[in-house]
Parts: sequence; structure tokens; C-alpha cells
Amino acid sequence: MRGAWESRDDCPVRMYRVSKSYIAGSAALRDVSLEIRKGEFVFLTGQSGAGKTTLLDLLFAAERPSEGQILMLGRNIARLRGSAIPALRRRVGVVFQDFKLLQGRSVEENVRITLDVVGTPRREARSRVFNMLRQVGLQHRRYHSPESLSGGEQQRVAIARALVGEPEILLADEPTGNLDPDLSIEIIELMLNAATRGTTVIVATHDHALLERYHRRTLRLEAGQLAEDEARASADL
Ligand SMILES: Nc1ncnc2c1ncn2[C@@H]1O[C@H](COP(=O)(O)OP(=O)(O)O)[C@@H](O)[C@H]1O
Ligand SMILES: [Mg+2]
Repeated sequence: MRGAWESRDDCPVRMYRVSKSYIAGSAALRDVSLEIRKGEFVFLTGQSGAGKTTLLDLLFAAERPSEGQILMLGRNIARLRGSAIPALRRRVGVVFQDFKLLQGRSVEENVRITLDVVGTPRREARSRVFNMLRQVGLQHRRYHSPESLSGGEQQRVAIARALVGEPEILLADEPTGNLDPDLSIEIIELMLNAATRGTTVIVATHDHALLERYHRRTLRLEAGQLAEDEARASADL
């Protein structure tokens, strides 16, 4: 851990000695410290139960840390009150492991929500949603409702919803879990492109083929502890 933790402003995601216990006496995360730079693309890996979802939930302020500090976009999330939490979340795109799509709304509406909450003009929103659905290969499904789609298609809707607003941070929990290898690569490429444009991206995955293919910085959790934080590509250092 760097000594100058207080003074790093170029890291939109920072955790300092963070632990999380859902149940007293058993820690889902233990003493995790890390910093992720703006525009960095990072894999978060580890076996089922290692704490990947917990870490992402903490960053999205869906859960509170039991110990330690989390700074997101320079804000100490433990101190956020009232409207400050939704305000932060509007700057963060998130792909949940279980998608959390709105049933009874079309694919297009599900993706457009991201833009509606920030007041993007209707015309602009329509074209951005259309382009985004094209990029994930779902423009022909835009008037369908999520429950009529396959798991892989629903996952791509969730990815489109997270990316369409060009968030400052993207948190993606097993975003390729339901996709075949070719589609997984396309989705990762979309996220890499977002990182190139300045989005800080964290992708939780236990897909070793992806880790091997992309050689990006990889955070590996083992029973809630950060067992490895390896920068695999010199370009990331
Ligand atoms: N809401 C919860 N209540 C109690 N225990 C939980 C909860 N969420 C996760 N856990 C536990 O925390 C640990 C880490 O889980 P999780 O973060 O989901 O890991 P991963 O995403 O790597 O599979 C597991 O032991 C899991 O059972
Ligand atoms: Mg998980």
C-alpha cells in the first residue's frame, strides 16, 4: 500500500483496509486495500464465495463496510447522506450478476432509463440507445420485454444500460457469465473501449480464458482477502 493514500486524486476507486461481515464472526472481505486509476481496466477474480460481489456492492454503496474507508470519485461513501448516494450512482454504471432489468418495460426503455435520470433530451437519448443496442447486437429486440429474451440477451441489455451513459466508473459482476466465448470477447472489447475513453472499469469474472486473453491488471480474492494484485500489462503500470 502506498503511504501517500490521502493525496492520490487520480484514482476514482480507492479502498483502505476494508472489511465486511454480513454475519458476526465471518468476514466476506478482510482488510482489502486497493487503488484503481482513471481509465484503468481491472479484472476482479476468485472462486465463488471469495467476495467479488461483496466488493462491487460496497463500491456501489449497496452495502456498507464494517471497517475501513472507501473513496469513490473522491467521495468518502460512508459519509454520503440523502441525495448524495443517488448522485454518486448516476456517475457509476453497474451490471448486476442477476441483471435487475425492469420487467414489463421494453429493452429500449430499460436502456434509456440511464439517460432519462440525467435528463438527456429525448431525441439524443433515442439515438444513443439505438447505437448502444446495435453495439451489443440487440437492436432487433428493442421493443421486446426482458422476460421474452434469453439469459445472454438479458445480460447484454444490462450491459447496454450500464454503458449508454458513458459512466465515470463501470462495475460489472460476471458480465459474460451467460455468453458464449465470441460474444464474451465482444462485450469485453466494448468495456475496454469505454476504458480508453476514460471510464474506470472493474470486471468480476472467474473466466480464466478472458484473464489469459487480455492480460490486464488482475485483483484476485481468496476467502475475502486480496491474494494477488498483479499488473499483467506494462501499459497499465
Ligand atoms: N447478503 C449476504 N448475507 C450473508 N452472507 C453473504 C451475503 N452476501 C454474500 N455473503 C457471503 O459472503 C461471502 C462472499 O460472497 P460473494 O461476495 O457473493 O462472493 P463471490 O461474488 O466472489 O461469489 C460468501 O461466503 C457469501 O456466502
Ligand atoms: Mg458473485
